[in-house]
Formats: sequence, C-alpha cells, structure tokens
Amino acid sequence: MGGLLAESARAEPSRTKARKPLLAALAGEPQRTPPIWLMRQAGRYLPEYRELRAKAATFLDFCYDPALAVEATLQPIRRFGFDAAILFSDILVLPDALGQQVGFETGDGPRLDPIHDAKGLSHLRDEPDWSRLAPVFEALDRLKTVLPKDVALIGFCGAPWTVASYMIAGRGTPDQAPARLFAYRSPDLFQALIDRLVDASADYLARQLAAGAEAVQIFDSWAGVLPPAEFERWCVKPIATLTARLRAKAPDAPIIAFPRGAGTQLAKFAPLAEIDAIGLDTAAEPRAAAALPGRLALQGNLDPIALLAGGSRLDAEIDRVLDGFAPRAHIFNLGHGVLPDTPVGHVERLVARVRGDKSR
Ligand code: CP3
Repeated sequence: MGGLLAESARAEPSRTKARKPLLAALAGEPQRTPPIWLMRQAGRYLPEYRELRAKAATFLDFCYDPALAVEATLQPIRRFGFDAAILFSDILVLPDALGQQVGFETGDGPRLDPIHDAKGLSHLRDEPDWSRLAPVFEALDRLKTVLPKDVALIGFCGAPWTVASYMIAGRGTPDQAPARLFAYRSPDLFQALIDRLVDASADYLARQLAAGAEAVQIFDSWAGVLPPAEFERWCVKPIATLTARLRAKAPDAPIIAFPRGAGTQLAKFAPLAEIDAIGLDTAAEPRAAAALPGRLALQGNLDPIALLAGGSRLDAEIDRVLDGFAPRAHIFNLGHGVLPDTPVGHVERLVARVRGDKSR
C-alpha cells in the first residue's frame, strides 16, 4: 500500500498490458485461479537439486555461483510451472557480506561466529561488501531473461530480527533464546545491530529489484517467539523502517512480509509496515487476516505437513485453503517451507488441484 499516490501510480500498467498473475494479485486484484509458488520450492526434496548441490563444496559456494543459483531457481519452475520463481540464495548471505563468519553444516543448518558483545559487533562492516553479493545480482540479471513470460521473479531477505537472532546465537535454536536474552540485557547494542540490518537489507532489496527482481519477500521466520512489546520493537518497527526506505528507492516494488507466528499480533503488524501482501503461517486464520485494512493481498497457508502426508487429506486441506481466502486477492503458498521428505508427486497434485484439475 505505499500511500494513495504510490497506489494509483502502481495501478497504471494494468490498463495497458496484461500483468503476470502474481503481480496482479500483489496489486490487490483477486485472480480467478490464485497464483501459486511455494516457500523453499527449490531444495532437497528435488532429486535434480541434490545432484546440482553436489557440484559445489559448500552451500555458500553454491549460493554465490550464478550458474548454479540460476539453475536451482529454474528447477521447480520447469517441473511444476509455478507462477513465481524465488531467487535461490539464503537469508544468511547478508551477515556473510557484513563480515561475519557464516557456514552451513550439512543436514544440521547454519553455523555463524556468534556475537556476544560490543566487541563482536565492532567486527562487522558498516555496509555489506557488495562485491561479495555480486553473484546474487548476476543470477537475477540472468533469470529475468530466461524465465517464462508469465512467471514473476521474487527476491528476498531475512527480516532484521530473524537475521539478528542467527547472528547472536550462531546457529538455529528452538526459540531464539540467545538473541532474546541479548536484547533484554543490552537493548542499545541490539538496537545498533538491528539498525545496521535495516539499512543493509533496504539497500540489498533495492539492488535485487534493480537487478531484475519484480517483487520481494521479507522472511521474519522467528517473529512468533517475541512477547508483544518486543514484537513491536524488534519485528514491526524495523520492518516498517526497512519498507519505508525501500519505498523511497523503489516506489512501485511489491513487498511481501512473512511474520511467521505473529498470531493475534498480526493486526498490529500490517498497518505499520507499508506492505502489499502478508504471508500467513500454518496456524493463521485467513478470516482474521481478511479483516486487515487496505488492499493487502494474502499469501498462504497450506500446512507443509499436509503436503508431506498427501492423499485425500491433502486434497481436503488444499480446498480449505482455496475457500478460506475469498474475497481477498490470494497467493497460494504453504504456511512455511517445503519439507525435504516431501514426495514430488504431492507437489504435482497440489498445483493441479489449485489450477482446477480435481481428477488426479
Ligand atoms: O525458497 C527457496 O526455494 C529459495 C531459497 C531459500 C533458502 N533459504 C535455501 C536453503 C530461501 C528463501 C531461504 C530462506 C531462509 N534461510 C530462511 C527463512 C525461511 C524459513 O525457512 O524460515 C531461514 C531461517 C534461513 C536460514 C537457513 N538456511 C537455515 C535455518 C537452514 C538450515 C535448515 C535446512 O533446511 O537445511 C538453511 C539452509 C538452506 N537454505 C538450504 C536451502 C535449500 C538447505 C541447504 C542444503 O541444500 O544443504
């Protein structure tokens, strides 16, 4: 919703040429068949991804190789014909470009050199090393020329809170307790880290848009662990500042925010941040989200476990999601990412059903 001016400016192109279904939905226009893409649509559940992944020594090497990143982005588009391709990369390339040591243990997630104090923070660069991220922009530049014409290209970053939580803990944790503790004990230091990430993320997304991304998603995967006042301070405000900065650089860019686990705090989230769509997690109630103000499009929220389960329960859950979002513009997605054990056939069944083929 970037205010009235930005909104009317953005409505203009639809009168002159047909828009990609994802971009039309992001503009708040309900589509007869909702556009569909899936968080983590590229990845280990695809045999061709596992084969490609073996070509790079580390996961970061893989992310920073434009040819491999382009191919990984395209794999799910070729197989399933999704309405959007999401750049293959990771939210933790930003701490890497800020000078923090970042690695990935195979099968066990990220490992960063944890930040414990002011000294740890002082090792970070003021601004990302953009040359380190050049392969990401190169991948976007190549993708925009090779994607099928109806497929939209999505760039992304992690939200400041979620990225900070990995930077503090140095790894995934069940509840991000290390970052929450740090924020209670040293709020000024934590604020300084968040501010650095707000600046870096706004610039990073603006550069992704300049390189070819047509929409961006901000992943706040750990929004749900914070109590209300902390949620306000570390999730809502930083995303509001980030999106305002991004709007100043790219007024027309559609922005999706995914505050996973926001629950009843969702109502507080939407009006503050100038976003076009909100991603709903598995537990969210679409009807409650439909009461949010403005032309906000809604994205979500099939349970990834239902996709794993398959069969008639998967069909029933798909239909429940399809029915639950009207009359808002809806973008079909999961409530979180595709799980590595998901059978490819279940994803085929999902896409066919969303597009109206119930014979499968
Ligand atoms: O969605 C896509 O297909 C695009 C690629 C993408 C990845 N990570 C690839 C990836 C995206 C959008 C992300 C976002 C991301 N990364 C988030 C936010 C979304 C979410 O899942 O909550 C987070 C928290 C991360 C950090 C991260 N990266 C973790 C915790 C892990 C380990 C968990 C896991 O699934 O392995 C990663 C690694 C990672 N990122 C993999 C992939 C395909 C697996 C690495 C491998 O192939 O070995």
